[in-house]
Amino acid sequence: MSPSIERVLERKREGGALTAEEIAWLVQGIVDGSVTRAQAAAFLAFTYLRGMTRDETVALTLAMRDSGQVLSWDVAGRVVDKHSTGGVGDKVSLVLAPLWAELGAYVPMISGRGLGHTGGTLDKLEAIPGFRTDLPVERLRAILSQVGCFMAGQTGQLAPADRILYALRNETSTVPSIPLITASILSKKLAEGLDELSLDVKWGTGAFMKTRQDAQALADSLVAVGEGAGVRTRARLTDMNHPLGRAIGNALEVQEAVACLKGEGPEDLAALTCELIGRDADEVAAARALLDRGGAWERWCRLVRAHGGDPDAVLQGGGCAVRVIEADSDGVVARCDAYDLGRAAFVLGAGRRAADEQVHPGVGLVVHVQQGQAVSKGQPLVSVHHADRGLDEALALVGAGVVLA
Ligand code: URA
Repeated sequence: MSPSIERVLERKREGGALTAEEIAWLVQGIVDGSVTRAQAAAFLAFTYLRGMTRDETVALTLAMRDSGQVLSWDVAGRVVDKHSTGGVGDKVSLVLAPLWAELGAYVPMISGRGLGHTGGTLDKLEAIPGFRTDLPVERLRAILSQVGCFMAGQTGQLAPADRILYALRNETSTVPSIPLITASILSKKLAEGLDELSLDVKWGTGAFMKTRQDAQALADSLVAVGEGAGVRTRARLTDMNHPLGRAIGNALEVQEAVACLKGEGPEDLAALTCELIGRDADEVAAARALLDRGGAWERWCRLVRAHGGDPDAVLQGGGCAVRVIEADSDGVVARCDAYDLGRAAFVLGAGRRAADEQVHPGVGLVVHVQQGQAVSKGQPLVSVHHADRGLDEALALVGAGVVLA
């Protein structure tokens, strides 16, 4: 007999736990419409207020994963991916996928677009002329077995329950709930058919989680639920008070990722990429040695070509003017803030306000300094690459974000 929706909602409202069967039934009903939007909203609100046990969160994650297609791969190696909770200048995926594939893993990477001040991998890839992020699954399957990695967008068939619930969470102010965030992130990643998942949980001004403590709670939940759902899961907490690397903005970030793949990347980007790949210090060191000698560059070129792109072409997004902001005195960089700099790139057009808005591939910032660095009067601090919008606002944000003492 099917559970009664009233009983299920009542139990959640009173802080009781739901069974895996009840959660699967509820999620199925949310997707097929037999559970109304009002009932789904009540479920979210009660979950937000009452929380969920680990077992419930595992059940919710699996039910959301199973609401759509769950991919599986016929490859002779471990299937791995990483997920970042999002940051400013975070182009790790572009370096990590070919590097991990070069080390023998298979990386079926399904990524999102940027929303707000954080960038999205798909927007970055689309700065590469010809690069297609919407290839059919059969083509992705071939790329995975031939190249060892692919980088594609979410299809409508993967975890459709998350799309419905995420929109409803936005409407009902129930986004910041650890069980709901956990199930949302993991349902999509687990639908990729992974053996292993490496998580980069960011905290700080430019991150979704503002404090280290909140990021730790999310990381603990993600690891426990990922493991509970049968995927080897590990998490790193990383500081997103400062941008990662120097470039912020789509084409600028691809350029920086390419430099890193040639062994010439910024230290923080190279180090984080290798730490996310390695299960122990030896694996981190092996990844780093390979990256530093440009060992994944050729695989990046194969990946780009397999997606229809030209790795040697000039990136889209030319035609930007560059304004260089210089230090107006000698001093030390006291602040180099991820949120302000991310917002500056966003108002220039590197990010989108609504899901259907176009981004400008070329605009953004190159941040020449880091917090704590001594600078002399006249030294370049930030280069602002701008086109047709947002320059004055971006300059004000850069002024607030990079402060000398
Ligand atoms: N990212 C997701 O995919 N889901 C959330 O709920 C939050 C961040």
